[in-house]
Amino acid sequence: MDVSKLHQRLIEAGQGHLLQYWEELPSDQQLELVDELQGMDFAELNVFFQRAMKGFGLSANQEKVDARMEAVPKNVLGSATRDGDWLQEWEREGFSQISQNKVAVLLLAGGQGTRLGVTYPKGMYDVGLPSHKTLFQIQAERILRLQRSADEHHGTKCTIPWYIMTSGRTMESTKEFFRKHKYFGLRSEDVIFFQQGMLPAMSFDGQILLEEKGRVAMAPDGNGGLYRALGAHRIVEDMEQRGIECIHVYCVDNILVKVADPIFIGFCVKKGADCGAKVVEKTNPTEPVGVVCKVDGVYQVVEYSEITLATAQKRSADGRLMFNAGNIANHFFSLSFLREVVRVNEPQLQHHVAQKKIPYVDTQGQLIKPDKPNGIKMEKFVFDIFQFAKKFVVYEVLREEEFSPLKNADSQNGKDNPTTARHALMSLHHCWVLNAGGHFIDENGTRIPAIPLNSTNGVSDAIDANENLKDANDLPIQCEISALVSYSGEGLEKYVNNREFHPPLLIDERGIHELVKNGL
Ligand code: UTP
Repeated sequence: MDVSKLHQRLIEAGQGHLLQYWEELPSDQQLELVDELQGMDFAELNVFFQRAMKGFGLSANQEKVDARMEAVPKNVLGSATRDGDWLQEWEREGFSQISQNKVAVLLLAGGQGTRLGVTYPKGMYDVGLPSHKTLFQIQAERILRLQRSADEHHGTKCTIPWYIMTSGRTMESTKEFFRKHKYFGLRSEDVIFFQQGMLPAMSFDGQILLEEKGRVAMAPDGNGGLYRALGAHRIVEDMEQRGIECIHVYCVDNILVKVADPIFIGFCVKKGADCGAKVVEKTNPTEPVGVVCKVDGVYQVVEYSEITLATAQKRSADGRLMFNAGNIANHFFSLSFLREVVRVNEPQLQHHVAQKKIPYVDTQGQLIKPDKPNGIKMEKFVFDIFQFAKKFVVYEVLREEEFSPLKNADSQNGKDNPTTARHALMSLHHCWVLNAGGHFIDENGTRIPAIPLNSTNGVSDAIDANENLKDANDLPIQCEISALVSYSGEGLEKYVNNREFHPPLLIDERGIHELVKNGL
């Protein structure tokens, strides 16, 4: 095989080292490497690198961002708790949009899930609920339930198409999983998979790293790779053909995500928004969460690492943190906005720099596993396009009802792990049962108090739904309600009102299951 032209191209781009081990490779690996390198546009990559590094230097200057930040103005803010009078109207509007087949959901599932540390896509993870449903199944059933509710409300058959972005590493296993599970009851033509791009990892001086002698270290280009992928796979055109007007974009790892939430959709539509962000209130100044705010008059998410503590601690007159719109990567886009972004704005977006420990083959042919960051991955973020919105709105929801991400493994003993995700879902479903008039009893037949009695001397232990629950008393009642039965707690009275249950309790479309009593 003649690789002299490719070699020349690499040398000109300052990446000649990528063929250093060429002669040693077996022919199949030679082929794969050439294939991979032929497909890369090195001039473009160098530009990405230079622009990303320049932006990285700027954002390290915290004082500058702090001084330019403004909180979200009240007139664009809606709230699930403070706008009670409006919720029904927004929900009605959302269902009306859904029943007219104008709503699609778009799942960001191209991440590598490195922190969780499993070899398969995160959506296939079972956090250990009584039903052992995976994240993909939970989300699919929420879509099914909404379709059915919209049909009941409006007497027509409707579809919420589900667009799923995967990466080169997760595409085949994700598709296979859906095939194996018969798309969890959805129509296969309404589940549309597409693949985001990958970029090579680079050293701090712009050299592309080899993870093996014959293989470049590649990583997905961030969840903001969405916009390029939408263009490359003509997804906007597919949405146009289906008559879609509103798109709900969300992350695979939030076990509580209200997929295609009619209230959020209705709120955004009623406000005439082209772009919306669902947020949870940031209450602790040092919580590591990005906040939605304005910088130089345009909306963006400012990462916690980009602001000083003094700014993070600032409070408004009502006592709440001034920058409290915690981003949960849960967004609304109008199709016209998305179309414009894909056609016009995407190329203007710069990559962000993530410093990483990247295993690489050095010039001696040794595989090095660094113990401190030795290079960068370049990523775009899904919220990078807020700046282009003409009418941006923010909708605040309760964390315990809508946000519990799965990021880490249980073994890491931190937060946002399978245990916290499972507990968050079961605590929420426990509340639903109590609110619908049901009760739980222990093995002696005594009612279990709704609020755990774990206070000492009248001072209760702090329980944060997102913290790792350490004390056995803090364990939530095991209770799970299938989304096929209830999307957000509605319609449960007929199952539970004035009834007593032994946990674990599972309510699904086949009925009520008290798992221990039934020996399950
Ligand atoms: P995270 O940034 O938490 O990354 O993704 P991750 O891949 O899940 O986990 P780590 O950082 O490797 O441990 C947030 C969301 O964005 C998606 C993920 O699938 C998740 O839904 N994502 C992330 C993409 O779709 N593509 C990417 O390139 C990165």
